[in-house]
Amino acid sequence: MSTPSREEKNVRALPKGFRKLGQQERIEAARELYGGAEDEWMCTAGSPIQLDLAEVMTESSIGVLSLPLGIAQGFLIDGKIVDIPLATEEPSVIAACAFGAKIIRQGGGFTTWADEPVMTAQVFLEECDPESLKVVLDAEEKLKEHIAPCLERMTKRGGGYRGLDADFDKETTILKVEIHIDVRDAMGANLLNTIAETVKKPLEKLTGGKTLMGILTNEASRRMAGARFSLPIHLLPGSMEKTELARRICKAAEIACVDPSRGVTHNKGIMNGVTALALATGNDTRGLEAAVHAYACSEGYRGGHGGNSADRRYRALSRFTIQGENLIGEITMPLPFAAVGGAVGFHPTSRLALKILRNPDARRLSRIAAAVGLAQNFAALRALVSEGIQRGHMRLHASRLAFRSGARGKELSDLSEAIWKEGRYNLETAQKLLEKMREE
Ligand code: MEV
Repeated sequence: MSTPSREEKNVRALPKGFRKLGQQERIEAARELYGGAEDEWMCTAGSPIQLDLAEVMTESSIGVLSLPLGIAQGFLIDGKIVDIPLATEEPSVIAACAFGAKIIRQGGGFTTWADEPVMTAQVFLEECDPESLKVVLDAEEKLKEHIAPCLERMTKRGGGYRGLDADFDKETTILKVEIHIDVRDAMGANLLNTIAETVKKPLEKLTGGKTLMGILTNEASRRMAGARFSLPIHLLPGSMEKTELARRICKAAEIACVDPSRGVTHNKGIMNGVTALALATGNDTRGLEAAVHAYACSEGYRGGHGGNSADRRYRALSRFTIQGENLIGEITMPLPFAAVGGAVGFHPTSRLALKILRNPDARRLSRIAAAVGLAQNFAALRALVSEGIQRGHMRLHASRLAFRSGARGKELSDLSEAIWKEGRYNLETAQKLLEKMREE
């Protein structure tokens, strides 16, 4: 029995071939079918250049989702002050990041590091003999010749071929071949995928196996980055006794290393900053997050409190300790950021974000990201183990209520202040306060 079409079922639908329509026609079709209020479509429409960008960056576009872009000011990273552009929908992220950075700056700022930007292309071959492993490893020079034309430009830029690995799985008879490439400042996805596809046939010839697929891996254990700060404990802010506050921060980080359910939230806080930086600069947030969370429960884990390399429990990416009079914060995580390629440098907002960051190369950007993650984490832990985070959050919640109640422009800050003072966070209160404000 054939499946009834939407028309047969009498369900209204977008026109057939929706994706082939012009953008305006698509918008009209979607408006007609789904309705939607004027402000909803106005915010989705963006500007003409945004609509054109949407059209070339994705299929079936009907507009843009614009997120707030802000600046977390004044990070001191390896002796240089840098402002950090962050794109996020979460109200407290930029405030927390900037607050953490300000305290850490008073103690001398962050020192950071990052690996060379090496990414890996993988090819999986089926029906291979165990000997195929050695055959491939012995044929490294030949395989290098096959991919050399793809790497000409990258090699000129100082990147290029960095090695080959292979692994044979007896049970499945699958041979995995990995080719490591230094992609310099690029995202490198296209290059790696081209390489994976270029070596498919030569590998089949060498091994007698059949290619199942070739693709880059987002696992980025060769692209680790880290940040560290050392803060005199007396500089910790807040009314709590300083040594006790430092002890509580360390304890909270320790719990995040032994209890995965806390580790997840702890790392989510770190990613509040890192993902916001990735979004602002046009980097691939999903690849980044997949790499980070895989690392947080990997054998090769280098950060966190304790645990041995065989322990694959999900753990915190950061670690806090007290050394003498100082609170030490450290973070280690894969941070495969790019400074060109894909949406990076193509989308005008990402170009602007890179300018704000003073045009870092990919490694410097990864180092900045590590500092951002650590600042965010430090600010969250400090608040959590002292006054809690709700106080600060409610202030920001007041602004949203002010917007929802109809306040615009200058009214927004006045009304949020009034809601905050009133201490009652609901729409009714906000509307009453707005009416009163307008009467006055
Ligand atoms: C909220 O977005 C992030 C925190 O939950 C992080 C944490 O709990 O460490 C505050």
